[in-house]
Formats: sequence, C-alpha cells, structure tokens
Amino acid sequence: GAPVTADVSKLEPGQRMTVEWRGRPVWVIRRTSDMIERTESFDPSRLADPESNEPQQPSYVSGPLRSIKPEIGVLIGICTHLGCSPLFRPEPNAEGVGTDDWPGGFFCPCHGSRFDLAGRVFRNVPAPTNLEVPPYRFESDSVIVVG
Ligand code: FES
Repeated sequence: GAPVTADVSKLEPGQRMTVEWRGRPVWVIRRTSDMIERTESFDPSRLADPESNEPQQPSYVSGPLRSIKPEIGVLIGICTHLGCSPLFRPEPNAEGVGTDDWPGGFFCPCHGSRFDLAGRVFRNVPAPTNLEVPPYRFESDSVIVVG
C-alpha cells in the first residue's frame, strides 16, 4: 500500500484524528503537556511492556511516549487482542475503563483491554502487546507521512 499523509495543522491539543493506511486505521493524537506528563509519570509496573521491548514500533521511536515528537502520537488503532477498535478515553480517571487510577488512554470495549496514551498495554488484560506504531516521518511541521 502507498504511504498516506496526515495534516495535523488543525488537530487541536487533546484531540485525535484517524487516517487509513493499508486498510487499517491510524490514529494521530496531539497530546497536551498534561497528557505527556501523565504518560511519562505513570507507574511502569502497571504496564506489561513499558519499555516496548516487543517489536511493535520502528527503531526510531523510544521511551514512554513511543513517538518522534512528544506531543504527536501515531498508533495503529486496532486492539492487539482480537482486533476490535479501542475507545479514546484521554481524560484521567475516566469512568467505565475498569480502573480507578486511569492516566488517560484507550479502552477496548470487547474484552476490556487498556492502553495508555502512548498505546502501552496494561498488565492483566487480554491484549498481549502494546498497540503498534506504524512507520512514519514528518514531511513538515504539520504533515506526517505514514508508511
Ligand atoms: Fe480488544 Fe479483546 S479485542 S480486548
């Protein structure tokens, strides 16, 4: 499949947009400084693979945020359990996500898997691995090329 572009110039802080790449949804999230702080400070012992040692991401992203720029997250929007579409629940302590101490992230309604705002999977949920980070680069400050 051909690469696709995402124009993030109109993506507001805290919002998410979706583009399609190779038949799959790719989420682009503009994280606020608060969202970045919550992700970076979240207790890694709550996560199954906090350092992303399993290969679900390109070699050029690392750290808790798993992205090129801290404020822009790029993730394949497909649950790594059985392929449902997780819900965007960016607010801390959102209701209905099955935990009181929620840093904001993604909640899969199919079997209750939880992921943080970098797509890192929680421990003790059905999904075995973090959400996938697709290959991507910045063509300019406002345009991302996925693929
Ligand atoms: Fe997401 Fe099962 S498909 S938890």
